[in-house]
Amino acid sequence: MKGSADQSEVSATEENKETDMSVWAAHVLTLYPDMFPGPLGQSLAGRGLEEGAWNLQVTNIRDYSVGKHHTVDDSPFGGGAGMVMRPDVLGNAIDAAKAASGGDKRLMYFSPRGRIMDQALMRELTAGPGVILVCGRFEGIDQRVLEARDVEEVSLGDFILSGGEIAALAMLDAVVRLLPGVTGNQASLSEESFETGLLEYPHYTRPAIWEDRAVPEVLLSGHHKKIKEWRQRSSEELTKQRRADLWERWSDENLK
Ligand SMILES: C[S@@+](CC[C@H](N)C(=O)[O-])C[C@H]1O[C@@H](n2cnc3c(N)ncnc32)[C@H](O)[C@@H]1O
Repeated sequence: MKGSADQSEVSATEENKETDMSVWAAHVLTLYPDMFPGPLGQSLAGRGLEEGAWNLQVTNIRDYSVGKHHTVDDSPFGGGAGMVMRPDVLGNAIDAAKAASGGDKRLMYFSPRGRIMDQALMRELTAGPGVILVCGRFEGIDQRVLEARDVEEVSLGDFILSGGEIAALAMLDAVVRLLPGVTGNQASLSEESFETGLLEYPHYTRPAIWEDRAVPEVLLSGHHKKIKEWRQRSSEELTKQRRADLWERWSDENLK
């Protein structure tokens, strides 16, 4: 199939070059394949990738371009500024990715119109087999491909990026750190902001006094129950002050 020879599987060892269907896998469709793994090749995600805790495949959408000029976009029907990615090009790229990835992965397109990504979505994705991610460019992609391939739209936030790649990197970073074998201390993840529905309490380390600022005394007491209570109270106060939306949801579920 056209393009399949150029798909690159990003993985450090020869042994796991074969796609292991049991491992959580991301397949990214992009016009800028060199942006991957990018920062995901570093630190915990990078080590996880090297050790086969997750798998990343990247396809250059241009491999599915049409005509002698290798076109992937065209001007919008109805006029207006910018270009739109063609449905035939993307449809073929998506179909090939589905066939290569086992057909059971969630198919998502990064778009400012989508559901804003949150920790609950990252947990949902971690529980599944993986994702196929479409990174848009230009003014976006032809609406028909979203409908015909039943693509979910997800957003990084209420601002406009130049392309979906940075949103894809952010999603993958957030998901991969939750996978077993990637972050050493899985217990520490369950206390993080959003996991409990609240923002996390403040952290302190040595020195106990810095620029005349002391660490809250209870944290030096060694009294585990009191420390736990102080952290819970701090989380609640911070959430109430900063995130009325989260506070309303959490207090509805926990204080009534
Ligand atoms: C310049 S943007 C297009 C913006 C589009 N014309 C609009 O007004 O909604 C190009 C691509 O960047 C990606 N993108 C931009 N902002 C994003 C966001 N907040 N979250 C996720 N992807 C985004 C999308 O894939 C989009 O197709």
